[in-house]
Amino acid sequence: MTPASSAQAQVLTASDLYRLEALYREGEGPSLAFLSELLERPHGRAWFIFEKGAALAVAWFTLALDEAEVIDIRVADTHRRQGLGERLLRESLTALSARSVFLDVRRTNSPAVAMYEKMGFLQVGVRHNYYQLPSGREDALIMRLELGVE
Ligand SMILES: CC(C)(COP(=O)(O)OP(=O)(O)OC[C@H]1O[C@@H](n2cnc3c(N)ncnc32)[C@H](O)[C@@H]1OP(=O)(O)O)[C@@H](O)C(=O)NCCC(=O)NCCS
Repeated sequence: MTPASSAQAQVLTASDLYRLEALYREGEGPSLAFLSELLERPHGRAWFIFEKGAALAVAWFTLALDEAEVIDIRVADTHRRQGLGERLLRESLTALSARSVFLDVRRTNSPAVAMYEKMGFLQVGVRHNYYQLPSGREDALIMRLELGVE
């Protein structure tokens, strides 16, 4: 098993995007091209954890006043279940100083739903048939966490 990384989360800039290519080569969800455009917007933010030149995890957000939305979070499949996703989310939310955060997640994405629930996110709504997948449509759960930053 790959040892867990202790590398700190860092702000992602446009010059780091090439480090994310392997992470986005496969899998569902937004493309790297779509996410990259967030960095050009004033309210787009991203943090990542990398080691030996390669990104192990990345989290993308938009920020409106003091409310953050998680647009995507991804951990390299070789490094999952080692606490990286949770740590990256916590470190980036602290850096954002957001008072609350919300997100959409596929109802059957059990690893992600379990991670959000462990962190204290609550389900606050459902968008029925929100996601179009090769296998058909799927509901999005809307989840929210109050951070209570003063
Ligand atoms: C969801 C994802 C980011 C989780 O990252 P991760 O680094 O593997 O998660 P962590 O190791 O930090 O896990 C934190 C907690 O989440 C839960 N969890 C994570 N993966 C789980 C799994 N496969 N099964 C059950 N619970 C899981 C556990 O409660 C875990 O805590 P524990 O290990 O103390 O029990 C990762 O699976 C991933 O990149 N998935 C593909 C992309 C994706 O679906 N992103 C979410 C978009 S909304």
